[in-house]
Amino acid sequence: MDTLLKRDAFGAIWLCGAGDGTRIRRDLSSVRWWLRPLARRGAAREARALRRLDGVDGVPRLLSWTGVLLERSHIAGLPMQQGQPRNPAYFRAAHRLLRQLRAHGVVHNDLAKEPNWLVRDDGRPAIVDFQIAGIGAPRSRWFRLLAREDLRHLLKHKRTYCPEHLTPVERRLLARRSWLSLAWRRSGKRLYNWLTRRVLRWQDNEGRG
Ligand SMILES: Nc1ncnc2c1ncn2[C@@H]1O[C@H](COP(=O)(O)OP(=O)(O)O)[C@@H](O)[C@H]1O
Ligand SMILES: [Mg+2]
Repeated sequence: MDTLLKRDAFGAIWLCGAGDGTRIRRDLSSVRWWLRPLARRGAAREARALRRLDGVDGVPRLLSWTGVLLERSHIAGLPMQQGQPRNPAYFRAAHRLLRQLRAHGVVHNDLAKEPNWLVRDDGRPAIVDFQIAGIGAPRSRWFRLLAREDLRHLLKHKRTYCPEHLTPVERRLLARRSWLSLAWRRSGKRLYNWLTRRVLRWQDNEGRG
């Protein structure tokens, strides 16, 4: 039996199957026509990122992408806001995972949201939701800037759940804001909130932005 996990303007997320065959399906069939192209771009981007990351432990495996349905393997665990990772080992492993993403030429871009981080049953981290991920050359300046933003978001979560384990270097990184995050705060975020709240009537109850 399929279970609906979430539905918003960009589609529905279903939990399908059971046991080893458990899958997570992103279903765009209910998306309004004028949002279709955007939703499809997001899913296509996710498919591309997951294909690149195939074999990386801590990221779902892409199972299929039809243009309307995207299926990825299910990772057993809880979203960060429920799993509450208070063990510094979680954050060490999460940092390693970000380095692996980066080595494969992928930046996530949406890691401020706690629901995109999972705490697996064995306590290790996993990352989901690659709709606005970036794919590029790991050495380019732009890519490195975005990778640093991914890391800053991870460190903010570390500050929430185990602040006493932040190293001096990590504290410095948190204190230093990039021009990108400042610009986002000043204008991008306002536009995003206006769009999602007014235009899409979106209830953003998905953790902290
Ligand atoms: N592969 C997965 N394994 C386990 N849970 C998942 C997986 N993919 C998504 N989820 C759960 O479903 C939620 C919504 O999926 P997500 O890809 O983040 O969709 P959205 O783009 O709508 O935020 C996630 O926050 C997570 O709790
Ligand atoms: Mg998400």
